[in-house]
Amino acid sequence: WPALAPTIHAINRLKKERNAVILAHNYMTPDIFHGVADIVGDSLQLAIEATHTDADVIVQCGVHFMAETSNILSPDKTVLIPDMKAGCSLAESITGADVRALRERNPGVPIITYVNTSADVKAECDICCTSSNALQVVESFGTDKVFLIPDKYLAANVGNKTDVEVLVSDGACEVHERFTAQELRDYRKIDPEVKIIAHPECPPEVVAEADFAGSTAHMIDWVKTKQPEKVMMITECSMADNVASETPGVDFIRPCNLCPHMKRITLGKILDSLVEMREEVVVDPSIAEKARIAVERMINLKS
Ligand code: 13P
Ligand code: SF4
Repeated sequence: WPALAPTIHAINRLKKERNAVILAHNYMTPDIFHGVADIVGDSLQLAIEATHTDADVIVQCGVHFMAETSNILSPDKTVLIPDMKAGCSLAESITGADVRALRERNPGVPIITYVNTSADVKAECDICCTSSNALQVVESFGTDKVFLIPDKYLAANVGNKTDVEVLVSDGACEVHERFTAQELRDYRKIDPEVKIIAHPECPPEVVAEADFAGSTAHMIDWVKTKQPEKVMMITECSMADNVASETPGVDFIRPCNLCPHMKRITLGKILDSLVEMREEVVVDPSIAEKARIAVERMINLKS
């Protein structure tokens, strides 16, 4: 990207000056993903990496709950997000007060929170999970039922794979809920050879039509390992863009949906963020302390 080279160069220079590291989610655009990121990954990988880095500054290229998770795990580091408005429909669907009410109505039932929630919600839950480890977390309690909040589709998809009754709340990802099983059947009719892989935030009938379902990192691994001739990634658009350059033999058929929150993060804003050392994400220490227990329980689960 010749036009972007000066910005990429300036960001990489400032990273050294500030002893900063850029953690980028798999939904970042390729200029960020391949040009300036130090660590890329799914939500679980980024949460783990936030605990490993020696940097003084973490620039979180993703959405607000991811920056909060980094601050929860590394309270001594400065965590910056290039756009404070980068939110998430799942995180906005539930509050800490909602979780308290849920617990009062259902005493004794473990409450698992998807990582896509505010620190306030994590602080009220027993453990955190991501789409990479949700099944393992659900089964880790040894109970006959658990709540998995707030993504009703992730919860239903996990429930379909286990004997544990997975109780849900009413959130959904605005990107993945828009895919339909009918559109997948229509694509297969046009192109019976295509492999279709989907994220588990999609409705269960969409996942049922797919050849594979997994977190963003698992989807990328699947494409790299299987090297299908043609693949359709039923998820956010940047996924195909990012993996395409690493898998030249694979043809990506691209119906996809953009996440408007992830797309708020741009190279220009990353540069501003490092120049001005803003916007800093700081979780209230009393909330962070409780939320950390839920996130660390997840990280410490043996895989
Ligand atoms: P993963 O990268 O953990 O699969 O999460 C997808 C997502 O929607 C993050 O916001
Ligand atoms: Fe939230 Fe969905 Fe966007 Fe991920 S893709 S940040 S779950 S709205």
